[in-house]
Amino acid sequence: MKEKDFLMIPGPTPVPESVLLAIAKHPIGHRSKEFSKIFMSATEKLQWLAQTKNEVYIYTASGTGAMEGAISNLVNCGDKVLSLVIGVFGQRFADIAKIYGAEVTILKAEPGKAIQEQDLKEALAKDNYKFVTITHSETSTGTANDIYQLIPIIKKSGALVLMDAVTSLGCMKLEMDKLEIDVLVSGSQKGFMLPPGLSFIYVSEAALKAKEECKAPGYYFCWKQARKALKDNTTPWTPNVSFIVGLELALTKMQEEGLDNIYARHARLRDSLREGIKDLGLKLLCADHDASAAITAIVPPENIAVPDIRKTIKEDWGITVANGQKELENKIFRMGHLGFVCDRDILMGLAALEKTLVKLGYKIPEKLRV
Ligand SMILES: Cc1ncc(COP(=O)(O)O)c(C=O)c1O
Repeated sequence: MKEKDFLMIPGPTPVPESVLLAIAKHPIGHRSKEFSKIFMSATEKLQWLAQTKNEVYIYTASGTGAMEGAISNLVNCGDKVLSLVIGVFGQRFADIAKIYGAEVTILKAEPGKAIQEQDLKEALAKDNYKFVTITHSETSTGTANDIYQLIPIIKKSGALVLMDAVTSLGCMKLEMDKLEIDVLVSGSQKGFMLPPGLSFIYVSEAALKAKEECKAPGYYFCWKQARKALKDNTTPWTPNVSFIVGLELALTKMQEEGLDNIYARHARLRDSLREGIKDLGLKLLCADHDASAAITAIVPPENIAVPDIRKTIKEDWGITVANGQKELENKIFRMGHLGFVCDRDILMGLAALEKTLVKLGYKIPEKLRV
């Protein structure tokens, strides 16, 4: 039954039917009053989601587009950037900064570990960085950095904080103004309960000031263009009108649920999945205290290959789980639990995983059987 396939990858994530139906309507003109009203309502709700009064620009691009927008609007050739890398996406931020000519220093943690306070302090003490890039929830390892601990340390150094919140915004507690984050990026196909195609970039006053000194060229992602259009309640270029209509509805639904409930739900889904995985006798890549509320990275049992797990759970149960990326390919598999996901989905995912493993020859440890 193809139509009952269920995505348990870290994105794209499931989309509520009401949002799909809103997106499916005939597009409206992007210079119409009707669109402006929806666009500005979505913009205000985006500010609510990140707990900020800062401006937010909506790009018709994936999350990487917003990451590039963070760098291309700020980084000059030779600028010193410290990139905190705990996986593939932290490395991507560093790579983009390098392409724009930054002198990038990398502070890396091994897969499944978060950046440690002391390591950050030592790295910051070694040089005078203009920018620090940080990933909140590292999708490739299911690990989260403790932003409430790390960001105040970065701010103390005087560097501007550029944060990838692609799989954390709308899932994990994140208050942009309280933390004084300078640039925050996210993407629609994650906690937002939307298909891929939109990304969001929030910019602080300090970031806008730094933009004035940036000589790097840029057009499509340029904040000046976005700011000017925002004053006229619109976007500079033709946006994905249909997805912005869907976004407004998805954010309304998030407001109805409430931020605390959203955070509590994601934490509960994470915890019940992790408990279930442990009950199956499997290992998790990262420790409980470093676990992202959006994605869980699981080590397969010995002698059972990740591609076989993915193939069987898909064929038998219509559930898609993700492989590891780069060096973690075939060493872990990942289950996403962000956005439009409920407790029942986790039970279903766990039951399907158990059946899959047993079919592939896994013996559930005797002491764990009920
Ligand atoms: C943490 C993180 N950052 C950045 C990205 C890149 O986003 P996109 O694939 O939408 O370009 C992803 C995508 O999975 C991600 O999970």
